[in-house]
Amino acid sequence: MSTSTLEESFKENPQSPQHILPIDFHLIQEVPNSHLWPNINNFPINHDEKNPNVPIIDLLAPNVVQLIGHACKTWGIFQVINHGISLDFFDEVESQARRLFALPVEEKVKVMRSTSGATGYGTARITPFFSKFMWHEGFTIMDSPLDHAKKLWPHDYQEFCDVMENYQKKMKALSFQLWLFILNYLQPSQEHLINSFEFTQALQLNSYPCCPNPNHALGLAPHTDSLFLTILHQTNNTKGLQILKKDQEWTSITPISNDALIVNVGDLLHILSNGEFPSVYHRVLVDQTKHRVSLAYFFGPQVDSTIVPLVSFDKNVGVVVPKYRKVKVKEYLSLKAKHLEKVFSLIRS
Ligand code: OGA
Ligand code: NI
Repeated sequence: MSTSTLEESFKENPQSPQHILPIDFHLIQEVPNSHLWPNINNFPINHDEKNPNVPIIDLLAPNVVQLIGHACKTWGIFQVINHGISLDFFDEVESQARRLFALPVEEKVKVMRSTSGATGYGTARITPFFSKFMWHEGFTIMDSPLDHAKKLWPHDYQEFCDVMENYQKKMKALSFQLWLFILNYLQPSQEHLINSFEFTQALQLNSYPCCPNPNHALGLAPHTDSLFLTILHQTNNTKGLQILKKDQEWTSITPISNDALIVNVGDLLHILSNGEFPSVYHRVLVDQTKHRVSLAYFFGPQVDSTIVPLVSFDKNVGVVVPKYRKVKVKEYLSLKAKHLEKVFSLIRS
């Protein structure tokens, strides 16, 4: 049986080159019309920064399964502390990411994502769905960044590769731990599920350069993440991530410490939970004086897997009806690449 990879699944939905290359942020004095959003606040912003904030979960808490399950259900996003990854290590990854984004454009284009590719330098994949461009540049890694790193730093690529590979290893282990807690919450009686998936991963380095007009620019336009879980690291001194809470207001997610991680539910976990866990809608704002870098790690099932909503017998309702039909991950990603969030209405059962 041939198995395909996440990377291969992107080949079916190629993008046009003008949607891939970001502008040269080093040169820009003023936001060009192509990047000016007339109205970024389609919903009010909740300026109350501390309260309410998303659940904070101590991974060493004895009732961690209930805490995570409840957070997934009520918010679809939470912060994780006591995950065992050191602040020094986050600093190292961030400084390697900054080293890459600081390169001149002539260097970064050498590793630009190809029209049918998944890895390398470029804009956000959701770019073609919006009439304005985002104030953002990214670099996507799937497993080893070796080929790209060699092009950027022919004599000095090793450190970048080691750090990025090591970060993915740590994130994979953490994701798997979270995954077991979540499965345990969703279906405590079905232990066979634990072995029913193979996993896939991607690491996205995000750069949001200083923006002369942050009230009319967006770092990332509103979207949901596609896979099971996203683990985000953002540095404490520069916030930017916002979630749309109860379809009513944008709320900033501020990490409680420099080593706190933000975890959010993605579309495929939303489907697997039969809609019980919201796939949280989020966006990124930019700052006038701070160049923000974030690390987003995406964890999901292998693209040949099939996702079937987990439904159980509910003593109040009786048999619960699945809200979505079963869908192959590959098919799902392809539908999303064509329809973005309208994808959910296409897979309703
Ligand atoms: C993403 C994302 C948030 C951030 O990469 O999908 O939502 O704060 N990133 O960079
Ligand atoms: Ni996202």
